[in-house]
Amino acid sequence: MCGIVGYAGQNQAAPILVDSLKKLEYRGYDSAGITILNGELATYKAVGKIAELEAILPDDLNACIGIGHTRWATHGKPETRNAHPHMSLNISVVHNGIIENYMVLKEKLITQGYEFESDTDTEVIAHMLHHKMNADNGKRDLLSVMKETIKCLEGSYAIAALCNDEPDRMVFARKDSPLVLGIGEDGNYAASDVTAFLKYTKDVIYINDNEIGTLSSDEINVFDLEGNSLTKDVETVEWNLEAAEKAGYEHFMLKEIHEQPTSIQNTFAGKLLELEGNVRLDELYLSKEQIKNLRRATIIACGTSWNAGILGKYLFEKLAGIHTDIETASEFRYGNPVLCGEELTIAITQSGETADTLAAVRSSKSYGCRSIAITNVVGSTITRESDSVLYTRAGPEIGVAATKTFTAQLITLYMLAIYLGRSRKVISPDDAKKLIISLKKLPGQIQKILNKKDAIKECAEQFADKRDYFFIGRYLNYPVALEAALKLKEISYIHAEGYAAGELKHGPLALITEDTPVVAIATKGHTYDKVLSNIKEVKARNANVIAVADEDDTEIEKYADIVLRIPTSHEMIAPVLSSVALQLLAYYTALARGCSIDKPRNLAKSVTVE
Ligand code: M6R
Repeated sequence: MCGIVGYAGQNQAAPILVDSLKKLEYRGYDSAGITILNGELATYKAVGKIAELEAILPDDLNACIGIGHTRWATHGKPETRNAHPHMSLNISVVHNGIIENYMVLKEKLITQGYEFESDTDTEVIAHMLHHKMNADNGKRDLLSVMKETIKCLEGSYAIAALCNDEPDRMVFARKDSPLVLGIGEDGNYAASDVTAFLKYTKDVIYINDNEIGTLSSDEINVFDLEGNSLTKDVETVEWNLEAAEKAGYEHFMLKEIHEQPTSIQNTFAGKLLELEGNVRLDELYLSKEQIKNLRRATIIACGTSWNAGILGKYLFEKLAGIHTDIETASEFRYGNPVLCGEELTIAITQSGETADTLAAVRSSKSYGCRSIAITNVVGSTITRESDSVLYTRAGPEIGVAATKTFTAQLITLYMLAIYLGRSRKVISPDDAKKLIISLKKLPGQIQKILNKKDAIKECAEQFADKRDYFFIGRYLNYPVALEAALKLKEISYIHAEGYAAGELKHGPLALITEDTPVVAIATKGHTYDKVLSNIKEVKARNANVIAVADEDDTEIEKYADIVLRIPTSHEMIAPVLSSVALQLLAYYTALARGCSIDKPRNLAKSVTVE
């Protein structure tokens, strides 16, 4: 995830900026850069580790104000020209977040004569500031043009900017991306999180959405968007560095579960066209004719990504009328797939580096299939080997257990299915619109689940000593059951099975006893009654049944021992909500068992070997 830093004070800025950027390394990044200001702006950027940036910094730098950035690519590859800060002549900008309408703004700036050096969304901010500053005979100041600029931005941002006409201060602004200021003895600091400057000060001011201001060596001013001056509380941070990296959460996994309202928003930022009942997927290089003629798609993935792929299969078949197979990459590569050139291969891999998935995609390409990669890592190997890439934009995931990258994959699959379905005229604009409206509600609904996590924790603790667990669901809830079982087994080491609820009676029912908790995903939909029957089957074997159900379901309590409520949603979208609830169940179970949650035994985050 990108991180920004800033410093204005009595000391040399460059070492402080570099040191602060190092503290943000845990967030994940692929390039870094700084701008310092001493009469002139001097900018240095490098791809790779911060050590690469340090290596290009001259020894004789002399400036007491500057801004810096670690970039985790979302728009454009990890290349020096895409690294921040971005410049527009006498202005330098760092940005964390996503500008959804950057294409429209970019086109306008190009007609105004601006040339773009990068593929990023951020560069539009630099040029807009420059453009506005030079209107009115250049008599404008950076704060007022920042205020005007951010009013034109759709999306999320924490921004820090410098202008060489204003040598003593930086301007900052925030909406939907974190920004905190530090008040030190030898100067003031700005950063995406307090870890960046915790070494220098623990006195902080948290900047809220739609606040803007200036920071200099001895002064911080914060305003609302109407220009009213705000009085901000100075708080003292009690965390140590390690706790601060996890933003106070005990584990990265819990932090990443809590990031989902934001990560999901980033996944669909700028893509959901509610009024038109459609999705914008400019990065999908398929002609209308190719989409119309699609007869079959094959989804290839491993682990959690494979579970996401099952939902993808159901979505493509229902919404786009495309026959879809779902294949485990490690099996596909050694099978004898019957494929032809008219078909589509969709590889899902959060890391973009999974050896089996890469090998399977290469194999499918040898049949002449077109390929789409769905991945979270810009510039990863899969992106170089696929015809089109859809980035999930969930931000880096540090916990080995996939959580926010899984829900981001689901959102991407919804968007792709809607796009293909609309292009093929399988779903109407009205039906697409209903799905889009439901997708947009997800961040708020996930937040509601997170706010009520104590009920899930209590349930997890009640069954934390069990040896076996079953998760059952039908149709769209079947992949939810598989993923919930995978999550539980990998972090709590409890044996867990995910099963299609209708399959229980064909074997596994023999395993169900009063000691086997069964989690039934029982959200309302056309398989709801069937799942109730399956609950009865396991109840008859004395199992404890935990149901995941809609908040307004008045029936379910008659069937289940414990009900975990989630906000009521569109039948097709509800799997995202159930998944979040069950991520929490796995987490709190593992916590109660004292497991190594972020680094489970025997597992790696990225499986680059066969
Ligand atoms: O990076 P990928 O999505 O290709 O990884 C595939 C699996 O190794 C991965 O999903 C794994 O199952 C998860 N870490 C489990 O939480």
